[in-house]
Amino acid sequence: MATPVCKLIDLPIVADPRGNLTFVEEFHHIPFKISRVYWIYDVPGGEVRGGHAYRNLEEVIIALSGSFDVAVDDGSGAEQIYHLNRSYKGLYVPKMTWRQLRHFSTNSVAFILASLPYNAEDYIYDYNEFMRLLK
Ligand code: TYD
Repeated sequence: MATPVCKLIDLPIVADPRGNLTFVEEFHHIPFKISRVYWIYDVPGGEVRGGHAYRNLEEVIIALSGSFDVAVDDGSGAEQIYHLNRSYKGLYVPKMTWRQLRHFSTNSVAFILASLPYNAEDYIYDYNEFMRLLK
């Protein structure tokens, strides 16, 4: 099976003059069972979130409001930046991806669908350890 890679997912848009609607269903738009949902908000200007990888967790990150950048690194050395600014776009991030969220706009909300419950032991905070585990 091919190694999963980061990719943007187009979520459904139900366009309506009364206001648009977007939804997600696990295993359909989201390629895993959704075990947890959390969101990051009220981020002061210039702050950075993340800066780690997960051993097993997969996630989809959505800019529900505003915009921010997600920098991802699969260990190949080249960081890739995804600018999220639409509530109908999800960024799929597979496990063992170093990721950081930066450049939050005022009032932005990062909405994250996660494949696993919170588990501190799933986090890799040391970049050298991340690289070592990839080998
Ligand atoms: P963390 O995932 O480390 O945030 P970031 O990578 O953006 O710095 O989480 C920050 C804190 O929040 C950490 O102490 C654990 C707690 N937390 C939970 O209790 N449950 C959760 O679902 C998440 C995502 C974090």
